Amino acid sequence: MKALVLSGGSGTRLRPLSYSLPKQLLPIANRPILEYALDAIQRLGVTEIGIVIGTPDSEIPASIGDGSRWDTPITYIHQDRPGGLAHAVRTAQPFLGSDDFVMYLGDNVMPSGLEQIATEFGRWRPSAQLAAHKVPDPGNFGVVELDEKRRVVRLVEKPSDPRSDLALIGVYFFTPAIHEAIASIRPSARGELEITDAVQWLLEQGRTVRVVEYDGYWKDAGQPDDLLECNRRLLSDLSSDIAGTVDAASRIGPQVVIEAGARIERSRVEGPAIIGTGTVIEDSHIGPYTAIGRDCVLRRSRVADSILLDRVSVVQVSALYGSLIGRRASIVGGTGAEAGHRLLVGDDAAIEVAA
Ligand code: DAU
Repeated sequence: MKALVLSGGSGTRLRPLSYSLPKQLLPIANRPILEYALDAIQRLGVTEIGIVIGTPDSEIPASIGDGSRWDTPITYIHQDRPGGLAHAVRTAQPFLGSDDFVMYLGDNVMPSGLEQIATEFGRWRPSAQLAAHKVPDPGNFGVVELDEKRRVVRLVEKPSDPRSDLALIGVYFFTPAIHEAIASIRPSARGELEITDAVQWLLEQGRTVRVVEYDGYWKDAGQPDDLLECNRRLLSDLSSDIAGTVDAASRIGPQVVIEAGARIERSRVEGPAIIGTGTVIEDSHIGPYTAIGRDCVLRRSRVADSILLDRVSVVQVSALYGSLIGRRASIVGGTGAEAGHRLLVGDDAAIEVAA
């Protein structure tokens, strides 16, 4: 069996961060989202992994590499436009050939693994094995409708009037029958070739489509609050590891990782928290639920429940909470007599300031 990881798309809901970094490389607990996907896929024992990327110069190949970290060869497949999930599969058809495959949406995080779904697929080998999870806002997802015997009767992508609270999660197991289905469907009203429509076509042809209710943690990390929630969840699994240097005037709580080369001085770090290599923290209070990337500088600041990407600097900021800060951003607190805020803000930035 092969794996196809979808990491193209436009990432509009994560702008401005996704302008300069594919959303699948945004870090959670200091690791790109995509690495968690590859960990879960590796555990299934697939023979090859294809990763769909949206631009030929995407940073994904440089970040993820050739697959040797997962002992599984990775092929990158360029999708020329974000034409939908089924369009991505069609683009990858030469890679997939006539093999069964697992398709994984590269912005989904499922740390408890995919074994439950893989076992169902292996047992019955339906044309499509889907997984679903109850959600409070099904209209934001593909929705699956079941009959009283829990057989799949209908799939609808982001319905305005959902008839079920079962959202499709981003893992699908397919036989090659899906290619015939994709060749038979038309683009949806939003102009995308939808995988839900392709599976609906299989259903209408009398092919077997099964769904399992996934019981592990699952998050579609498509929006800033999802990333922060996922960060809290993955940080809460951390075990302490202090490889960097901590001076005698600092206090480090439980569940804190300080990577080699990080330096903490006269500061307090409350876990769960992770501090990346090369980062310097002085006279500050960090955490809980904070992930700070590499080569950041934090001075005289208080930061909690946040994700800071690499090379961020935060100086004299009294309270930074629930924040997502992009690479090389600099945030400096009031330095003189002037009142108010002074901002240099890029397109689509979202800033909340004290009134
Ligand atoms: O997370 C579960 C949901 O994922 C399902 O419930 C929906 O049925 C499914 O359509 C999908 O909805 P999203 O709106 O979250 O899909 P998104 O556009 O975020 O794309 C999912 C992944 O696929 C993401 O990593 C980007 C990638 N992608 C997306 C498109 C449209 C591609 O590689 N190529 C594409 O053309």
